[in-house]
Amino acid sequence: STSALITSIADVGKSAREKLPNYAWAYYSWTSADGKTYQDNLEAFRRYRLIPRNLRDVSIRDTSVTVLGTRLDIPVAIGPTALHRLAHPEAELATAKGAAAMNTAMVLGSFANHSIEEFAEAAPSGIHWFYMLFYKDRRHMKRQLDRAERAGYTAIFLTVDQPFFPFSVDKSPRVSPRAYTVPLSFPNVIDVEPPHAFGSTEYRACLTAVVKEPPTWEDVEWVRENTRLPVVLKGVLSAEDARMAVERGVNGILVSNHGGREQDGVPATNCSRLCVCESLLTSCPTSSARFDGKAEVYVDGGVRTGTDVLKALALGARCVFIGRPALWGLAHNGAEGVQQILQILTDELSLAMARTGCAKISDIQPSLLVHQSYYGI
Ligand code: FNR
Repeated sequence: STSALITSIADVGKSAREKLPNYAWAYYSWTSADGKTYQDNLEAFRRYRLIPRNLRDVSIRDTSVTVLGTRLDIPVAIGPTALHRLAHPEAELATAKGAAAMNTAMVLGSFANHSIEEFAEAAPSGIHWFYMLFYKDRRHMKRQLDRAERAGYTAIFLTVDQPFFPFSVDKSPRVSPRAYTVPLSFPNVIDVEPPHAFGSTEYRACLTAVVKEPPTWEDVEWVRENTRLPVVLKGVLSAEDARMAVERGVNGILVSNHGGREQDGVPATNCSRLCVCESLLTSCPTSSARFDGKAEVYVDGGVRTGTDVLKALALGARCVFIGRPALWGLAHNGAEGVQQILQILTDELSLAMARTGCAKISDIQPSLLVHQSYYGI
């Protein structure tokens, strides 16, 4: 086994690169345009420096956090990504097991090979959140919301930064036709698998026929009124949109640029200027203060180390989400690989907390951070 040599998320990424067929690596790594937004997500974390506090008792560190009323052992959850089957035969079921082993949450992507129920049953002790698409047929949406509630999911995620899906707008498919030999299906999107080959023009047309493109605020309001579960909007970058979401009873805002896979040229989610962080995160000690405690704020994009997690929390995020690193873990070693990347992030975060004087998550305050512009560069 090569696992003895694996000590960082980057190592897991390298292992995944070696193990994955080229088409799978290319799909997971894919970015819009020239990838500037994706790179910016990674670099923006490095633009912050830390000012540790010393001589505090950090002999015991508690990395647990409460998100949407549920306690997670670590402030790192797994965000929704599509097509886990390209990385591992057990697909989303293995990812769910890895997350459950670390007592953190995972968002089941709608573009998953496994149904709402199969996913929940694979990891009965897990914390399951469901990313639901907007559909033209609201009865289909209502059925999905009810199924998620019955299967024990505890939150609904709505992605709002994708007015049109890749299968509707991509000029060339971002999943290479070579991937079509892998048995793929989308049981959460289409009730009856169409008689067309996955990836074909006809198959894509079946998807386009059922999803609502583009969704609007009215659809968010409808979802809010039709589920008991907390609702999170994923992909908000504008402070004004965040305010509108909270006015409509949304419970959480996931600041995200879709890992650089939607509109290129938007800011890094963790940057100090321009984006929602300016007004939601950096300007207040806890993100919920901005909303008078009415909604939680999370961030994803470019989280690769425990220090990145620490910085995101110091910016005011209640927890972070990871996308590609979970897929790398899955490709590296299935459920155990997913557990391993979460363990690496936990160990790194715990050490970073010790070295910056934080014994618990609430000790991670904005005063820990200084932006590199401090140097005048
Ligand atoms: C995604 N992401 C995503 N988001 C979403 O809301 N619905 C989706 O179907 C997908 N699918 C998807 C597939 C793949 C292969 C990737 C890499 C990402 C975006 C994802 O939830 C998250 O926002 C980013 O991946 C976070 O950035 P990092 O951690 O990958 O840098």
